[in-house]
Amino acid sequence: MQNWSPSSWRDKPIKQQPAYPDTDALRNTEQTLGRFPPLVFAGEIRSLQKGLAAVSQGDGFLLQGGDCAESFVEFNANKIRNTFQLLMQMAVVLTFAGSCPVVKIGRIAGQFAKPRSADTETVEGVELPSYRGDIVNDIAFTAEARTPDPHRLLDAYHQSSATLNLLRAFASGGFADLHQVHKWNQGFVSQTPQHEKYEHLAAQIDQTLAFMRACGIHSGNTPQLKETTLYTSHEALLLNYEEALTRQDSLTGDWYDCSAHMLWIGDRTRQPDHAHVEFLRGVHNPIGIKVGPSTDTDDLRRLLELLNPGNLPGRITLIARMGATGIQEKLPSLVRAVQQMGASVVWSSDPMHGNTIKSSNGYKTRNVKDILQEMKGFFEVHRAEGTYAGGVHFEMTGSNVTECIGGAYRVTEENLAERYHTQCDPRLNADQSLELAFLIADTLKAARQSR
Ligand code: PEP
Ligand code: CO
Repeated sequence: MQNWSPSSWRDKPIKQQPAYPDTDALRNTEQTLGRFPPLVFAGEIRSLQKGLAAVSQGDGFLLQGGDCAESFVEFNANKIRNTFQLLMQMAVVLTFAGSCPVVKIGRIAGQFAKPRSADTETVEGVELPSYRGDIVNDIAFTAEARTPDPHRLLDAYHQSSATLNLLRAFASGGFADLHQVHKWNQGFVSQTPQHEKYEHLAAQIDQTLAFMRACGIHSGNTPQLKETTLYTSHEALLLNYEEALTRQDSLTGDWYDCSAHMLWIGDRTRQPDHAHVEFLRGVHNPIGIKVGPSTDTDDLRRLLELLNPGNLPGRITLIARMGATGIQEKLPSLVRAVQQMGASVVWSSDPMHGNTIKSSNGYKTRNVKDILQEMKGFFEVHRAEGTYAGGVHFEMTGSNVTECIGGAYRVTEENLAERYHTQCDPRLNADQSLELAFLIADTLKAARQSR
């Protein structure tokens, strides 16, 4: 990698950065963080790249999801457990529907920094810096709370470390046992108002597990049925944090950003000559690129050349977030451009960020109907182009929030006030997320069978 170092991004123009008043304190914090142990290990990152390489070849499916922004205040074991549990439940449905391995990646253990549409926010004539996520400042609308504080980088690191510790324990300690996860899904299906839609699939999974048990295959003797791997990811937005956790692998000599297994570039910071692309081109992690309505084919080609010059399978995941009404129009030319380049990518659908609306009572929300429509449109485009729809990317939580409207339990605009807890964008709750997994099961199955 020529002319690259973990700090070469500092010579490039950069968007979406906080203005730290105390730059000495920032530098000290970066040095402290630079001495802390990495959060993930390069060998794990390479395993993820292998898993994603299989997805890019049509031999797997990617499920990525979690909070829009993790929060310091809402940091507790139940929340982590609920999100882990939900990801496992969705993964079982998708694994069965697609008859293929599902690569599971949380937006977790580092998803703190947020891009914002404006640098400042004005309330009743008072203008303050925008909230940029708990790793930068506090959401309360006071001058003190909104001042970027470098110490928050360390708090984010420690929270990520404790989160990862629990996730690893759940993944290897028996909490992800397939029989248990299936029982949770049966509980969901029996209670949900539209259970008849999902009963067939749940019954098929049940029969399969019973058959396997009859053949002597169960979690008591087959570790694959009781253990899993959940990888972590976040938007690589606050490069001071990312640089400090970037380390040279002692086995290969390659650089890895060890703050998470996968990092992605947001839709607002994907300028080819800017700092975020510069930083990510040099680390060997799998990279996601958000692909929004303003991405044209030249942008995409340029990004693929810069970020994956060797065309390594599993390196790039393109995360389309066009909106329910834009997907059919905008995605095909981009898919074709990638095909023409012969570029190896995973195509994933983020049906959240192009479907944010304001409710009549003033909440930022999303409608489950639009989310489903965008996902179906995504599958439809790939079917028409003869390419592989390889994954989904959700903002979701295992907690019982009311932030997105619709779904089987019919969350209405009036319900939004009841449990609207997000630090940033509205998330699907557990029922809505699982419902969507069941609702795309048939589409996924049909897409895989037609290959
Ligand atoms: C996000 O994923 O939280 C996000 C800000 O997305 P995008 O960059 O696609 O707007
Ligand atoms: Co978001």
